[in-house]
Amino acid sequence: MISEEERQIIKETLDHKANGTTHMLDDVMHNPVAKYNDPDQLRAEMDILFKNFPIIIAHSSDLPDAGSFLTYDDLQAPILVTRNNDGQVKAFLNVCRHRGARVEDKPCGKARTFSCPYHSWTFDLNGNLRGLPQPFGFGDLDKSKLGLVELPVFEEFGMIWVMPSKTEQTIDFDAWTAPMREQLNGLDLGGHVVFKKWSLDRNMSWRLALEGFQESYHFCSAHRDTACSSYLDNQSVHMNFYPHVRHAVPLPSIEELREKPEAEWDYRPHYMTQNYLFPANFVQVMTDHVYVHTIIPTGQGTCKFQCMMLIPEAPKTEKAERYWNKNYDLIRIVFDEDFVIGEGIQKGLNTNANQEFLFGMYECGLHFGQTAIDDALKGDLTVTTV
Ligand code: FES
Ligand SMILES: [Fe+2]
Repeated sequence: MISEEERQIIKETLDHKANGTTHMLDDVMHNPVAKYNDPDQLRAEMDILFKNFPIIIAHSSDLPDAGSFLTYDDLQAPILVTRNNDGQVKAFLNVCRHRGARVEDKPCGKARTFSCPYHSWTFDLNGNLRGLPQPFGFGDLDKSKLGLVELPVFEEFGMIWVMPSKTEQTIDFDAWTAPMREQLNGLDLGGHVVFKKWSLDRNMSWRLALEGFQESYHFCSAHRDTACSSYLDNQSVHMNFYPHVRHAVPLPSIEELREKPEAEWDYRPHYMTQNYLFPANFVQVMTDHVYVHTIIPTGQGTCKFQCMMLIPEAPKTEKAERYWNKNYDLIRIVFDEDFVIGEGIQKGLNTNANQEFLFGMYECGLHFGQTAIDDALKGDLTVTTV
């Protein structure tokens, strides 16, 4: 059973293929190069995009039990994430309320309480300050006011999403992700297994890494010997679910559907779908597995690419293990092809060879993504609150 949205994507693909056309916008977009190399621009992006919007930091299985915790340091704040005794995920600034030490230093583990290494103030899984040595030295201390600072966190679609800055407002995550929910819920990513997880530091603006996933015009150049033959050349259908984007890249097998009644259509075997979830999260759905990646700026001209490969179940045979490893090896090559190009662009950014970059009319994901980023930086786009 496919959704109405998928039926529409399939129809568009078949029509374009029959007519020798592709999905296009009305105009080319001119994007100033200053957006990629201006330090003030990057500061604004780090302060707004990477603090005030939900970022994927882990899979649900990374916090399997009550008492599971992980620490995360790739955003601008040190973060501690726990699963409490009710099974809820909680996130906190990993900053002691006494004099600021890191409360927990291990990358992950299991604990009932967290004892700060500096003077042993102790916090529970809900961030409450439970005790401190020699409390008489602090007079009339109100422990209820000295819990760890809580951050908005969401466990949705099998992923842990954190909004890295403190807010008094209640975030409506359902509304924020509304147009993507049907598709993402249908994937059952929470029931998937993390087959591989990796993190790369690359010498390129985070924007350049991001843009590699927002169009397929580059596939038959940049991925000539790898991904090119697996997909129809530059035939993407982009759905603008502002500020998110569903980017559907058809496989040649889509042609099989042309003669079939619509009631028999299926979607997933015929598309690779790169779902962009603002500001820098991707859920990239392959025909039988999924990559979830997040791109984070780490400085001027540098970024971190974090990725997990999710498969429907743990491999039970050597053959299955080999199959998934083959997919993993291939995607590492394909992603690397993008990153090598991106690092090359980075080297030329400051030359003034270009005052602006051109987004072609079929590079729709670039237009949509850039518009949403511009809006957020202007203050016109904020995460949905209640
Ligand atoms: S800084 Fe944590 S107990 Fe002192
Ligand atoms: Fe690519």
